[in-house]
Amino acid sequence: MDFKLTEEHEMIRQAAKDFAKNELLPGVIERDNKQEFPREQIKKLGELGFMGMMASPEYGGGGMDTISYVLAMEELSKVDASASVVVSVNNSLVCWGIDTYGTDLQKEKYLSKLTTGEALGAFCLSEPEAGSDATSQKTTAIDKGDHYVLNGTKNWITNGGNADFYLVIAQTDREKKHKGINAFIVEKSWEGFEVGPKEDKMGIRGSDTHSLNFNDVKVPKENRIGEDGFGFKFAMKTLSGGRIGIAAQALGIAAGAYELSKEYSKTRKAFGTEIMNHQAIAFKIADMHTQIEAARHLVMKAAWDKDQGQNYDLSGAMAKLYASQVAMDVSTEAVQIHGGNGYVKEYHVERMMRDAKITQIYEGTSEIQKIVISRSVLKD
Ligand code: CAA
Repeated sequence: MDFKLTEEHEMIRQAAKDFAKNELLPGVIERDNKQEFPREQIKKLGELGFMGMMASPEYGGGGMDTISYVLAMEELSKVDASASVVVSVNNSLVCWGIDTYGTDLQKEKYLSKLTTGEALGAFCLSEPEAGSDATSQKTTAIDKGDHYVLNGTKNWITNGGNADFYLVIAQTDREKKHKGINAFIVEKSWEGFEVGPKEDKMGIRGSDTHSLNFNDVKVPKENRIGEDGFGFKFAMKTLSGGRIGIAAQALGIAAGAYELSKEYSKTRKAFGTEIMNHQAIAFKIADMHTQIEAARHLVMKAAWDKDQGQNYDLSGAMAKLYASQVAMDVSTEAVQIHGGNGYVKEYHVERMMRDAKITQIYEGTSEIQKIVISRSVLKD
């Protein structure tokens, strides 16, 4: 067993850390206030290779391992969880999904643009009545021979307004239930595709979340991913890896809030001494540090499982369940340590507390993670 990162991993971590400090930190409060998408920053992340980290080099990807990806996700999320969710969806849902299950043509046409930041992707599974209950797809994709016709509505879609290519899950044959579901690549410019209103969110306000409408959208058959009926498995397999990315995001939010709190406790004085000298604060710091370290081990283990070609459904679900709880606990304590300053925007931790909440909801709620975990451990 070796807990040491390689030199290459350290370099990737440092590059992400520098980017977060130099490019994301300035303006992060303003983007949150104005719900402004970090367009310039995402473009630069694409140029630096952070948008398709694990994808095949022949399609512009970095060919890196999952450990590299979670290290980058942690560092970016310490500063700006809105930017990091854009990175996560593009990397571990859209690029990974097309790279792993797409045809050569789909990879040439779409993946090579998604990996470089030339185009952005979105993953469209959730619907008004199919969030956790993902097999209950109401969006239909009717087979018309050489193409499908898509109709329906998707909800809460990250990158909804800014994406160029959309992975859309829809029901082709209702009789076959989840085995009659397909996944498609849809281009934004296609007739009948419409981006709905932007959601006004509690957290990750810099990322854009929209509903999407499909009105008789013609999708060529060559844009279907995998065999007929593979769509639900595709969504589940893709989400298993996506959950590792969100776990790393949650870890980053917690670690960012912790680092700010540690510094604050060394400078802020109360009752004649720095507040770190009060056990009430020192013990909070001890708890935060311990929780974060435990979450980091779960995240790294899940990433390692994926890199080793082992099953990561269970370890990814555990990492997301635990890290998202740690993000909530640590960011809430960070606000408490900062006192009145913690409640104002300038000190960042109130934003982190708002951002943390979504990590317990998207890419499978904490309750869904418990379903995945309990089914996995109880099946033998
Ligand atoms: N890998 C491969 N196949 C899987 C799988 C996995 N991880 N999990 C389930 N499946 C397969 C099952 O084997 C089964 O197929 P077979 O019948 O051929 O065996 C099929 O999928 C259906 O599985 P279940 O019977 O277990 O289905 P279920 O209705 O009980 O639901 C669930 C399972 C785990 C609860 C699933 O519905 C789920 O994960 N729900 C949450 C959905 C979710 O995460 N949504 C997030 C939206 S995306 C998002 O947030 C992105 C963003 O923008 C940030």
